[in-house]
Amino acid sequence: MDTTAFLNTLRLVFSVQELTRATDFRCDPLPAIQGKTAPKVQRLLQLAVRCLPLEECYFEVRTFQGKTLISAALFNEDKHLVACDDFSEFQDDPGQAMAILQENIRRFCPPHQRIDFHMADFRHVLSEGRLSKPIGCYFNDGAHNYRSQFEGLTYVEEHLAHEALVLVDDWRFAPDSRSHARQATLDALARFKRRWEVVYELPARFNGDMAMWWNGLGVLRTWVTP
Ligand SMILES: C[S@@+](CC[C@H](N)C(=O)[O-])C[C@H]1O[C@@H](n2cnc3c(N)ncnc32)[C@H](O)[C@@H]1O
Repeated sequence: MDTTAFLNTLRLVFSVQELTRATDFRCDPLPAIQGKTAPKVQRLLQLAVRCLPLEECYFEVRTFQGKTLISAALFNEDKHLVACDDFSEFQDDPGQAMAILQENIRRFCPPHQRIDFHMADFRHVLSEGRLSKPIGCYFNDGAHNYRSQFEGLTYVEEHLAHEALVLVDDWRFAPDSRSHARQATLDALARFKRRWEVVYELPARFNGDMAMWWNGLGVLRTWVTP
C-alpha cells in the first residue's frame, strides 16, 4: 500500500485540530451497530482501505459486531477485507455473536463486497495460511494484554505487504483501560528487520472518548528494506 498517499489523504480530510483535539462526534455512519470505536477512527479506517491496491487486503483482528470492519468497508466495494474474532469477550454465546455480525454485514455491505470472516483466534488465522493476499492495512483492536498485543504483531509480520499501514487501537495506557498496546507494539517492532515509523499517536482523554480517538490510536507504517 502506498502509505504516503494515505497520509496525504488523511491530512486533507483531518485538520491538525481534528487530529489532536476533541471535535464534534455526531457523525457515526453506522449508529445502528454497537461497537467500541469512535467516528474519527471509523473515518480513518475507511480512508485507509480506499488507498489499498486490489492485490492486497485489509486485515482486522477483533471485530465484535463489525462496527470497525464495516466502517472500513464503506464506499470501498471493490476492496478485499479479512477479519477475525474468537468471540471470547463481551458475549456469552459465540453463535449468537456470529449471527449479529453476519446480519450487520448483510444490512450494511453490498452483496458483492468481499469480506472473509474467520471465527477464530488471530494466531490460527495467520499461522494456518488462511490469507490469500498480503496485508496492506492491518488493524489490531485487542485483547490489550501485553502478550496478545506483542503476538498480534509478531504473527502478522510475515503476511504484511512490502509497504503496509499498521493501526493499533487502544494505544493509550491508563488505569481505565490498562492497555499494553503501545509498549508491546514498540517492543515487537524493535525485533523486526523491516523498517518502521510511528507516524501518529492519536490521542484520547479517556477510554471511550467519542470526540477523539476512542482510547488512542497508533498509526504506523512499515516497509521492507533491500
Ligand atoms: C474491543 S472488541 C473489538 C471492537 C470492534 N473492533 C468494534 O468495532 O467494536 C474486542 C474483541 O476481541 C475479541 N478477541 C479477544 N481475544 C481474541 C483473540 N485472541 N483472537 C480473536 N479475537 C479476540 C473479543 O471476542 C471481542 O469481540
